[in-house]
Amino acid sequence: LAAPTSLHTLTEEEQMLKESVRRFAVEEVGPKVREMDENEMMDPKIIQGLFEQGLMGIETSAEHGGAEASFTSAIIAIEELARIDPSVSVLCDVHNTLVNTILRKYGTKEQRDKFLPMLAESKVGSFCLSEPASGSDAFALQSRAVQDGKDWIINGSKMWITNSYEAEIFLIFANVDPSKGYKGITCFIATKDMGIQIAKKEQKLGIRASSTCTLNFDDLKVPEENIIGGLGKGYKIAIEILNEGRIGIAAQMLGLAQGAFDKAVPYTYERKQFGQPVGTFQGMAFQIAEAATQIEAARLLTYNAARRKEEGLPFTKEAAMAKYFASVVAQKVSGSAIEWAGGVGFTRETGIEKFWRDSKIGAIYEGTSNIQLNTIAKFIQKEYS
Ligand code: CAA
Ligand code: FAD
Repeated sequence: LAAPTSLHTLTEEEQMLKESVRRFAVEEVGPKVREMDENEMMDPKIIQGLFEQGLMGIETSAEHGGAEASFTSAIIAIEELARIDPSVSVLCDVHNTLVNTILRKYGTKEQRDKFLPMLAESKVGSFCLSEPASGSDAFALQSRAVQDGKDWIINGSKMWITNSYEAEIFLIFANVDPSKGYKGITCFIATKDMGIQIAKKEQKLGIRASSTCTLNFDDLKVPEENIIGGLGKGYKIAIEILNEGRIGIAAQMLGLAQGAFDKAVPYTYERKQFGQPVGTFQGMAFQIAEAATQIEAARLLTYNAARRKEEGLPFTKEAAMAKYFASVVAQKVSGSAIEWAGGVGFTRETGIEKFWRDSKIGAIYEGTSNIQLNTIAKFIQKEYS
């Protein structure tokens, strides 16, 4: 069960968490992966299991029902879940690194006391920033919020919202004063019972068990006390949290690459052609060695960014590099893994092809690869000019 890693910086607690998440992923998630992918639906028992394992409030304080663990622990959990199923991994990732973190970091005491226990114990959260007309250009969002006494009325549409089919808690970014441009963007917390409706559930190439929906807000009434961080603070909250969240997606892509490798490599030592295991032909062995090196490099980038964040050091460039690189590695290694297993790798039975389908999303969400490269390039320009 022990997960392969040459990282020597994990604490004893983190190593224990890694092994327990691995066990949950292999024993509880593993048997359901194919069915969930084919049905394009997350099994509610898996979500319940994530709550029971304490994985839905990893960094949340014990006082609020959480595990009070480190940011690196959240990253470990995301990596280990993705080794078995990147869909389950992203559910846990968005819920923790985006939703819980915004509340922990920017929520008032009342907001933290009210929402963090629900999020740790039973209610799934989602992060609603993207819209039909604003993806990469996220701050051009068109959802509007208008004050009405002690309430705010939100109108608009959100697209591509992960977890939104299962979610009961929604962090919604809407502009309260378009004359101020992105400085009017404000973060609201809404609950499903306020009247949030799913307009459309997407059918996707990969991470098919992870829900991705469009939400329409038609005079959605949210009380004033549900504004997070103050009027006009939403854009900073969104991007500061995405800087951290990108380390989570790097971990998801890292775990995915490791999962494809774990499935295909043993097969190459069992399968014989020309009288020898195919994995021992130099042409194959070198590809395998190269893939292992790329996974290791992605792991070091990801965990370095996580530790920098945890220690309060600047980490935005490192997070962008980790997400960009791990997404490239995930796509490359999962593609090679299909080829290493030959015809059987191309069938649905082994689950290797699923990792490759799932890998494409790494270069798209939480900022496309070009957006990560833009971020890295801006830092380089600043450093060298
Ligand atoms: N960190 C901190 N602040 C940043 C920043 C960063 N990486 N990038 C920009 N900013 C700040 C700037 O400092 C500036 O703020 P001030 O005016 O207060 O100084 C402000 O943002 C605007 O800066 P720019 O004009 O340079 O930014 P822009 O408008 O060209 O683009 C962006 C900014 C929208 C953040 C863009 O760079 C970006 O990241 N786009 C991708 C959006 C994204 O990641 N969406 C993810 C949705 S959630 C998701 O996808 C979840 C999931 O699937 C699982
Ligand atoms: P576009 O922004 O239209 O980009 C199209 C192409 O143009 C890309 O190749 C891009 O790299 C390129 N491009 C755009 N601008 C530039 C530039 N300045 N320089 C160079 N190239 C550029 N959003 C949420 O808010 N919450 C979620 O939970 C969420 N989950 C998602 C789940 C899935 C499965 C998917 C597919 C998306 C999700 N998103 C979510 C939205 C996601 O963050 C956006 O899809 C992403 O930011 C890209 O936006 P876009 O799709 O509009 O592409």
